[in-house]
Amino acid sequence: MKKIFIINGANLNLTGIRSKIIYGLENLDSINDYINDYCKKNDINVEFFQSNIEGEIINKIHSSIDNQDGIIINPGAYSHYSYGIRDAIESIIIPTIEVHLSNIYAREEFRKKSVISSVCVGVISGFGKEGYILALDAIKNILRGY
Ligand code: DQA
Repeated sequence: MKKIFIINGANLNLTGIRSKIIYGLENLDSINDYINDYCKKNDINVEFFQSNIEGEIINKIHSSIDNQDGIIINPGAYSHYSYGIRDAIESIIIPTIEVHLSNIYAREEFRKKSVISSVCVGVISGFGKEGYILALDAIKNILRGY
């Protein structure tokens, strides 16, 4: 069974409370329950982590080296400026997919650039919680060798 780590970064713990028009009404626990159900039905061993602290996210990425087959990460605002998270993903050589609940290309200028994307296999942006499911399917296929 493949092990996938889902990491959510800054302010994602406030999903369902903040900017509901953009991020939806559902909170992160409920989104994670939805993902967990999908993983159970699809033989994926999933682990979740959320932090608002950049260094904690970096440490968790490092700890994936011998532990996880794939990573799905929504770094939140760190996407736009964290070279630390970027370098951590580059260092571990585990397929990583970047996810955003909102379509970052349809929003403010500063959101259109992610410094994380270049070290990820790909980016899924704008599909709400379904983005995590799309990322799980993509990672499963990548790990299977397509
Ligand atoms: C986000 C988009 C980011 O620009 C923003 O800072 C977030 C959430 C998203 O999921 O759409 O916190 O990553």
